Amino acid sequence: MQKEHVYKKDILEVIITEKQIQKRIKELGREITEAYDESDDIVMLCILRGAVLFMSDLSRQINLPVVFDFMDVSSYEGTSSSGMVRIIKDLEENIEGRDVLIIEDIMDTGLTLKHVIDLLKTREPASIKIATLLDKPERRVEKEVSADFNGFEVPDKFVVGYGLDYQEKYRNLPYIGVLKKELYI
Ligand code: IMP
Ligand code: MG
Repeated sequence: MQKEHVYKKDILEVIITEKQIQKRIKELGREITEAYDESDDIVMLCILRGAVLFMSDLSRQINLPVVFDFMDVSSYEGTSSSGMVRIIKDLEENIEGRDVLIIEDIMDTGLTLKHVIDLLKTREPASIKIATLLDKPERRVEKEVSADFNGFEVPDKFVVGYGLDYQEKYRNLPYIGVLKKELYI
């Protein structure tokens, strides 16, 4: 018998299973492949670190030439956005005239992405689109930021797993679950 995942005891409820995630990523891969039909110069820009797993699985479902780049921004203190966005690592590619597809784990207030998009626009890419695995629309502050490709809508609860963390833990859980409140309050 397989041993229970070490993190399972900290999870109140599984809201998206491993199987549901993989099925949805296949659909998103097809959608993205169709949407960029005409493009042969796509930069998949992974927002570290939460989107690493999503980028890795999603990219394998996109049947187009893409290149990978990574950007590390920090906006989060504990379980609520601080509103302060700091660029820890900028991307390496020159994106001028290219199609940038931002890969994000979750859109919450939207503050992080608004900041990233404003910065990228100054570099004159041909287009900027957003693919996010999760969307928490109830929490949006930046109303003009919305995802072009969205995996799942989630309720206003703190979730972890499949890349998403709480204090760097839980990223390697293969599913998305709600973290027990007593662990962060
Ligand atoms: P925003 O700037 O409020 O949209 O926050 C985006 C970032 O906050 C995401 O990239 C996540 O790293 C983090 N975040 C927001 N909600 C959650 C959550 O429920 N679990 C884990 N991280 C979250
Ligand atoms: Mg993140």
